[in-house]
Amino acid sequence: MRKIIIAIDGFSACGKSTTAKEAAKALGYRYIDSGAMYRAVTYYFLEHHVALANPKEVAKALSEIKITFNINAKGVSETFLNASNVEKKIRKMRISENVSQVSAIKEVRVAMVDQQRKLGKERGIVMDGRDIGTVVFPDAELKIFLTADILVRAFRRQQELLEKNEMVEFDAIVANLKKRDEIDSTRAESPLVKASEAIEIDTTNVTIDEQVDELLRLTFSSMLTSSKN
Ligand code: CDP
Repeated sequence: MRKIIIAIDGFSACGKSTTAKEAAKALGYRYIDSGAMYRAVTYYFLEHHVALANPKEVAKALSEIKITFNINAKGVSETFLNASNVEKKIRKMRISENVSQVSAIKEVRVAMVDQQRKLGKERGIVMDGRDIGTVVFPDAELKIFLTADILVRAFRRQQELLEKNEMVEFDAIVANLKKRDEIDSTRAESPLVKASEAIEIDTTNVTIDEQVDELLRLTFSSMLTSSKN
């Protein structure tokens, strides 16, 4: 059957990555976490004290950045920045607190979208982010828009951080998610909006298994439709 592109967009911590990862595994597709790319750029900018308002500094820094993904021994995709594994570092609150400001910069988006399109050339991918169905792959065969209650999202994120030995107060996580949603949805460059043909799934009262099953059901029906066309 013809391989398709599955675009999953939505607000912060709605379960996009978890759903996308599991579905990609079941389908034998490649999973690409576009948020990890923006997080890696943010990590580099912070480490090198790049002035976000200085286009020359931003352009120079972007020309020095190479982001790749490697599958580790457990079969999990990890993010590499200039050949060094930054997977753990980019998930820290310090990055979450700065990533939306970096992601709003036009030059950053142009560079990342270009790389994301190259990664998707072969199709057979599941990519999650904020502008995947609207800007990166407007021709994706299946577009999903995930939502969830803010308190459920914050609780899930707090658990994820705890598993990585980072203790962050619940209120600080709620504030961070709200702030990022606000910046991501109102920025001038490819803001987070639901693509008109995207299917919305509210994950508030749904388990990961149920989310993945729903996504796989939608994928097979999309594959059937696209094979007929
Ligand atoms: O995992 P979480 O939902 O917290 O966020 P993420 O997917 O890791 O994305 C981190 C940030 O990167 C978002 O808050 C956006 O500012 C930015 N981003 C973006 O602008 N466009 C994308 N396609 C993906 C992420």
